[in-house]
Amino acid sequence: MFSLSDEDLERIILGCGDGPASFNAELTALGGRVLSVDPMYCFSVEEIQQRIRRVYPGMLSQLARQRDEYLWRHFRDPSHVGSVRMSAMNRFLEDYPKGLADGRYIEASLPELPCLDREYDLALCSHLLFLYSEQISLASHIAAIKELCRVAREVRIYPLVDLEGRPSSHLPGVIRELAACGYELGMEKVDYQFQKGATDMLWIQSVGENLELDV
Ligand SMILES: C[S@@+](CC[C@H](N)C(=O)[O-])C[C@H]1O[C@@H](n2cnc3c(N)ncnc32)[C@H](O)[C@@H]1O
Repeated sequence: MFSLSDEDLERIILGCGDGPASFNAELTALGGRVLSVDPMYCFSVEEIQQRIRRVYPGMLSQLARQRDEYLWRHFRDPSHVGSVRMSAMNRFLEDYPKGLADGRYIEASLPELPCLDREYDLALCSHLLFLYSEQISLASHIAAIKELCRVAREVRIYPLVDLEGRPSSHLPGVIRELAACGYELGMEKVDYQFQKGATDMLWIQSVGENLELDV
């Protein structure tokens, strides 16, 4: 989703809206440095498990109903997606208590993160911004991305389509506003694609107005 290189994985990474994904657990096991933030980290292992059990059948039937909206290249069929996601969630759940104690999972919500300016080299945000364009306004997208740029030198966001697979209607406004504020940014093709049309990530680097933080 983010074209992460080996060098990227050595950087100090913030995962925003990571939810029950296994990225933090896997990268930490490899010796990487990563913080995940998500409002759901106020919940216990048992509460998250219950929620996963509740939504899992609906997720599978939604995939089966909307089969044509996905590209079946990485996954064979909806039950394959289900088993891959379930094993990622189990990996997260195993790691969650230790990660909470170590401060690797922190309850927080955009547009305000409890992080210092430029504390992270790279912030990653998947399946939240742009995907939920109907639910999250343009102004909230801009505020959220500026906050990610405050705490990280580089931000990558994936996908850039909404839940219907259409290019997010907020993308032109976000790009215009960030470019006007002096950020460098661009869209880049990535290897991963499951939702049809979800071919690109957006990368943003803080330059210009933020340079004074470096001196
Ligand atoms: C669809 S999930 C994506 C999880 C993970 N990033 C992935 O790609 O599998 C969206 C996540 O965003 C989190 N979220 C919702 N509102 C948020 C906010 N304001 N700031 C940060 N995360 C938020 C939700 O709790 C949820 O875990």
